[in-house]
Order: sequence, then C-alpha cells, then structure tokens
Amino acid sequence: MNRIFSGVQPTGNLHLGNYLGAIRNWVRLQEDFDCIFCVVDMHAITVFQDPAALRTSTREVAAAMIASGIDPKANIIFNQSRNPSHAELAWVFNCVARLGWLNRMTQFKEKAGKNKENASVGLYAYPNLMAADILAYKATHVPVGEDQKQHLELTRDIATKFNNDFQVDLFPLPEPQIFGTATRVMSLRDGTKKMSKSDPSALSRISMTDDADTIAKKIRKAKTDPEPLPDNKDGFEGRPEAANLMGIYAALDDTDLDAVIAQYGGQQFSTFKQALADLAVAKLGPIGDEMQRLMDDSGHLDAILEDGGQRARAITQPILKEVYEVVGFLG
Ligand code: TYM
Repeated sequence: MNRIFSGVQPTGNLHLGNYLGAIRNWVRLQEDFDCIFCVVDMHAITVFQDPAALRTSTREVAAAMIASGIDPKANIIFNQSRNPSHAELAWVFNCVARLGWLNRMTQFKEKAGKNKENASVGLYAYPNLMAADILAYKATHVPVGEDQKQHLELTRDIATKFNNDFQVDLFPLPEPQIFGTATRVMSLRDGTKKMSKSDPSALSRISMTDDADTIAKKIRKAKTDPEPLPDNKDGFEGRPEAANLMGIYAALDDTDLDAVIAQYGGQQFSTFKQALADLAVAKLGPIGDEMQRLMDDSGHLDAILEDGGQRARAITQPILKEVYEVVGFLG
C-alpha cells in the first residue's frame, strides 16, 4: 500500500517556495495516494515560538493547504502535537540514530549558526522526530522540496537500522518525491540563497498571503543583472537570479523552462517582470483570499485539525504497539 506523509512548519511567512516546492504538488497526489499532511508544531518549537503566534500560524498552514485544494475529508490534515505517537516514536529513534549521523545534518549547522552550544537539544534531534513523523504511519512516499533530501536519507537510515537491530521488517524505506521545476526556489534578493521563512528581509520572499500590490512590488524589486534574459539554458551560468525568476514563471505557469526561454529569452527583465507579476497574482491571489476567508473561522479550522488528529492517531496507535512489542516494552 502506498501512503504519503509530508509536513510544514508553522513558523509564519509561508512562502512561494513552500507552495511550489511542496503544497502544490500535494494537491495532485491526493488523487492517487492515501495522504497525511501535518502542520509540524513540535518541530516549530525547536526554535522559540511565541505561543499566540504559533496557534495562528498552525491554523494558517492548515488554511493554506485547504485553500490550495487539499480536501481535508479525503485526506488527513492535522497538527503534530495532537498525535502523541510522533513524540513516542521519536524517543525510540533517539536511541537508534547515532550522534555521528546527526552531526552531519546541514540544516542544524545552518540554523544553529555560530553559537551551537546555545541551540536547543530539540533542534539537534529534529531529524529523529521527522523520521518518526513519517515512519509512525509506515509512509512509503514523502513529497518535499530539495532541502529536505538529507533528512529523508536519515529517515531511511533509521528505518534500516531499526529493522536490522531487531531483525524485523517493520518499517518501509520511504521514497522522497521531489517534483517539478521549483524544487528549490531562491530568494528574490539573492539568487544563491534559498527562499526562506527566516530571512530578515520580507522582500526576499513572496508570502502566500501577500496582496496583489505587494506581490507586484516584490517582483519589481527582485534582484536582476543588466543583461537581457538568456535565450538558452547555458546562459543561466553565473546568472542565478535569471534562472530563479524564469524557474518560478515555469512552475506557476505549469510549463517547463524551455517554454519560458522560448517566450522570453532575449527580452529585458522589465517586460518579463511585469508578466511574472501578473501570473503570480493570478495564481496566488485566489489562494490568499481563500486562506483569509478560512482564517476568519478559526473554529472550523480547529474542528478540521481535531478530526484529522483523531484519524491520525487511529493509524499510528497499532504501529506504535508493534514497535513497543519489538523493542520489549510490551508483549
Ligand atoms: P519547511 O516547513 O521548512 O518547508 C515545508 C516544505 O516546503 C519546502 N520548501 C521549499 N521548496 C522549494 N524551495 C524553497 N525555497 C523551499 N523552502 C521550503 C520544503 O522542502 C518542505 O517540503 N523538516 C520539514 C518539515 C517536516 C517534514 C516532516 C516534511 C517535519 N516532518 C516529515 C516531510 C515529512 C521542514 O522544515 O519543512
């Protein structure tokens, strides 16, 4: 049986990278897979979150999923803390994963920065919780952006070691699904840096809730270079901003980079930026409006999360029982 699990952190500023790299792909997958989409609030608190802001962001991520077209009845949408199985399995995995494995995780190094001694223990053990998220459901496929690839490899290592240590075939090895032309959307201010929620400059990212004027302004102000747009893929060499903006256009327009090059290659950035702004507003505007409408009824969103949490627990409880028997806690 194929089962999909994926997650987004409710840390504010859900952006175009989250949409194109992840959420949009999930909408398509719901046709063919049994899908579980999780707002990973327990991951969020690995860096301090204001509690009121966390509650709002959790609902906002759920609203973004629904507004993008994910059906919360046909799939499961819930926030992680509603299902204790994630934390329970993460503890077992803390005892399976090796320090050396976690030491290699680039996200920890980036997020902890220079002052690693002051990072939370949770931030360090974050990938073990992520492995637990996925494996608590025996998920087989995990649709993510490219930045999560290393975490997925660790998840497979943990599943393999658990199965070997206990001589069982309990966990599947989940496959990452990294789709499309926007697997790594870059900052609008620096084409060599990933678009990220934590970038101090709001101009670096298009947020899913930005209004039309803000989207247009951010695209107008996006960093470019003085040359016309390249007319073939080799022309992207040394021009990360051109590659990023044309890649975003291709993804939003559901086409490929060659088609965008054929249409805009050789033209000035100013003409292209206008077209990109119009396209982004046409695609994101309705989603932002629907998110706002959903956010105005927090009771409805909370009911969806509660229902999703119950259905999530029903899947993981028997799997956790199996794990507890295998490790010798039960049975
Ligand atoms: P998070 O919250 O940083 O991002 C959510 C999803 O968005 C993708 N993404 C991007 N894709 C393209 N370009 C970008 N600039 C960009 N920025 C983010 C991410 O790859 C991700 O798919 N650790 C995860 C959350 C998580 C998870 C899981 C994911 C926790 N448990 C289990 C999958 C399965 C994270 O921090 O994603």
